[in-house]
Amino acid sequence: QPVFLRDYTPPAYLVDSVDLTFRLHPTKTRVISRIAFRPNPAAQDRRFFLHGEELTLLRAAIDGTKVTPQTDTEGLTCTVPDAPFTWEAEVEIAPEENTALEGLYMSNGMYCSQCEAEGFRKITYYPDRPDVMAPFTVRIESDLPVLLSNGNPVAQGTGWAEWHDPWPKPAYLFALVAGDLVATSGAFTTCEGRKVDLNIWVRPADHGKADYALDSLIRSMKWDEQVYGRAYDLDVFNIVAVDDFNMGAMENKGLNIFNSRYVLASPQTATDRDYDNIERIIAHEYFHNWTGNRITCRDWFQLCLKEGLTVFRDSQFSADERSAAVKRIEDVIALRARQFREDAGPLAHPVRPESFTEINNFYTATVYEKGAEVIGMLRRLVGPAGYDKALALYFERHDGQAATIEDWLKVFEDATGRDLTQFKRWYSQAGTPRLSVTDDFADGTYTLHLRQETPPTPGQPDKAPQVIPLAVGLLAPNGDEVVPTTVLEMTEAEQSFAFTGLDARPVPSILRGFSAPVVLERETSAQERAVLLAHDTDPFNKWEAGRLLARDVLTAMIRDGAAPDGAFLDALAAVARDATLDPAFRALALRLPGEDQMAEHLHALGHTPGPLTIHTAREALKDALAGHLQTLWPALYDGLACPGPYSPGAADAGRRALRLAALSHMARLDGGAQARAHFAAADNMTDEIGALTALLEIGAGTEELDRFATRWAEDRLVMDKWFALQVSLAAPENAVDTARCLTEHAAFNWKNPNRFRAVIGGLTMNAAGFHDASGAGYRLVADWLLRMDAANPQTAARMSTAFETWPRYDSERQALIRAELDRIATQAGLSRDMGEMVARLRAAG
Ligand code: ARG
Ligand code: ZN
Repeated sequence: QPVFLRDYTPPAYLVDSVDLTFRLHPTKTRVISRIAFRPNPAAQDRRFFLHGEELTLLRAAIDGTKVTPQTDTEGLTCTVPDAPFTWEAEVEIAPEENTALEGLYMSNGMYCSQCEAEGFRKITYYPDRPDVMAPFTVRIESDLPVLLSNGNPVAQGTGWAEWHDPWPKPAYLFALVAGDLVATSGAFTTCEGRKVDLNIWVRPADHGKADYALDSLIRSMKWDEQVYGRAYDLDVFNIVAVDDFNMGAMENKGLNIFNSRYVLASPQTATDRDYDNIERIIAHEYFHNWTGNRITCRDWFQLCLKEGLTVFRDSQFSADERSAAVKRIEDVIALRARQFREDAGPLAHPVRPESFTEINNFYTATVYEKGAEVIGMLRRLVGPAGYDKALALYFERHDGQAATIEDWLKVFEDATGRDLTQFKRWYSQAGTPRLSVTDDFADGTYTLHLRQETPPTPGQPDKAPQVIPLAVGLLAPNGDEVVPTTVLEMTEAEQSFAFTGLDARPVPSILRGFSAPVVLERETSAQERAVLLAHDTDPFNKWEAGRLLARDVLTAMIRDGAAPDGAFLDALAAVARDATLDPAFRALALRLPGEDQMAEHLHALGHTPGPLTIHTAREALKDALAGHLQTLWPALYDGLACPGPYSPGAADAGRRALRLAALSHMARLDGGAQARAHFAAADNMTDEIGALTALLEIGAGTEELDRFATRWAEDRLVMDKWFALQVSLAAPENAVDTARCLTEHAAFNWKNPNRFRAVIGGLTMNAAGFHDASGAGYRLVADWLLRMDAANPQTAARMSTAFETWPRYDSERQALIRAELDRIATQAGLSRDMGEMVARLRAAG
């Protein structure tokens, strides 16, 4: 049942054009297709196979003559001429019954589609693979007022509209929307002089909440022209916000479809984080127009070709639009929390997987975020100029093609002359390399001794050394920088690098900017870390020094029952009160490592503390921090108020982040008095959620939760926050009951993925609650995975990753988790998605 990268063969038939007519109806939509096929000269195979699932075939014809194809659950075969021919078919589908949200479905009365990766086959019979590219013409017939598809509008009348997309594309980029929608509109003239109409379509009730999305789109278009020389290529660019959506958003050509939480925003309903996400995801999907659409993937094994690159590009954009230092730190926090965790468990897989059963299970942190890190390393190795040259060659050479990772690396080799044979291991070897560092100093020479080792992962017991670009700087003991950032290139399993002409033993700042996605292992004194925290010129490592101090203090508290370390509290206080530092940076420095992170770290050290022990220690450290800095918090709180109306920009958002961090520490001292006042006075969602969080964290806030629910009952995106917050911040002993109770709430519409993720995902993020020794958390999540799997396999399968950390828990918990995984695995009618996930989760036992 799995497919393998090595089995790739070119398609038997190519498509010259596609004409589709949709007669929309909730349960009886007709799809009429006319497709011009021609034998592929590059293929041996002459078997004619079209993918098709859950379709009712009403008629089919070849060159006007009726045919009767053989159909099964995966598609159809048919005898065809040995020359170009026209295929015609009419099928019936039922969008309203489509709860999987893949193919054509309905959300709040509107029709919408999601085809990536293999959803087009639920719309009509077609060679649903990304290396078959064709221009599409689409006619939509419906009484709904707004009818959209890819490309440019051609014609429209009462009850119909026609669209034509001249750019050949794979079927996964097809999209259709029909509904009662209103647009927030703008225009953009490209550097090539093309005037583009921009529309963000939302339901009438949401009108007025798309301004920030439109603004982000315009800035993205400008940025891609300026930085990558990429201009937009159609007369219109449409974005539609949809409430029921499995993922974040989708880059369909000229018609991006978004989860509404990544479009809709107003100061009253969206937090700073929401604004940040909207900007980032609007940019991401827009950037796909070149990295994904104009150049697409040959097959789904190459997913990182478009996703890694597009994530890398959107990170560059965010760094340029906001603070580069803060963006880098946030990206690394997320990478460690999600990708390192994935790499360390049973679901570990290479950035380019070699086999899969269900491709939807591989839209992962490894493919996306590690895929982006690999490109960041490449750029560091060849330098910005080499990178620009390689990218220019990539666009020139592969425009209009379905490409591979080999093609991608070849443009770097051709543009820069560098041999990337060894570098390619980043795409094929799973697991996070561990880099151990020792050093010595004699006669003015400082030497770093490096050793890399990548632990075994499923199917990959042995790993070869990888190319690791290591950005290093050296500080004098007084904190002055004596050697600025240099990039060392590690290629061997063990290697040493020497720095000469030094007056004294330096303090090394290693892995500056997090120059490679590795775990750095080095015995370091607290004094060295304090020097780096106070003086490092590299903002990432300055933050990292604080994080390592916090991690070690927490480790000692958890493992040895130690008291919170005073020197650490002083060092953190110095950062928090340093007004020369960006408030956003200071807020990040005050954030302690998460409980899940601590569990992973301690497991790597050979310890298996109970989740409650970790939780209690972390709370104790927060309390200690609150008490130790008790005079600082009110000063920060008073000094950081943002004057004037709410602005989502990085500067104000950073002030709010630090101010709310102060507020949450104050709540630990004053029982929440200030937070209650803050909640009552809040005029924007960031402050409202910040105050509520501060209260929930100290076990208060019941009244505020009620007021919040009354105020926002009609706003589903805000109510998602209400659901998520109380589960994820519940005291460990209450978390499962809170979640269960919320699943019985009248507004718990579990078929809406956002709401499902708020409650069930909220529970899995409450580490000590989810891992309650009784196993009640595991049971509740497994129950819901089974229920959701029957309706929406993609969303259920994704949530099953909550169990990927089982190897780091004690044997009692492991047995409880295993029992739940067994229960899921033996369920009749399990989806392919969930079947593959539980098989992989259970395998590494
Ligand atoms: N290509 C989309 C993006 O990253 C994600 C679509 C994923 N869809 C899925 N069904 N797995 O922007
Ligand atoms: Zn993407």
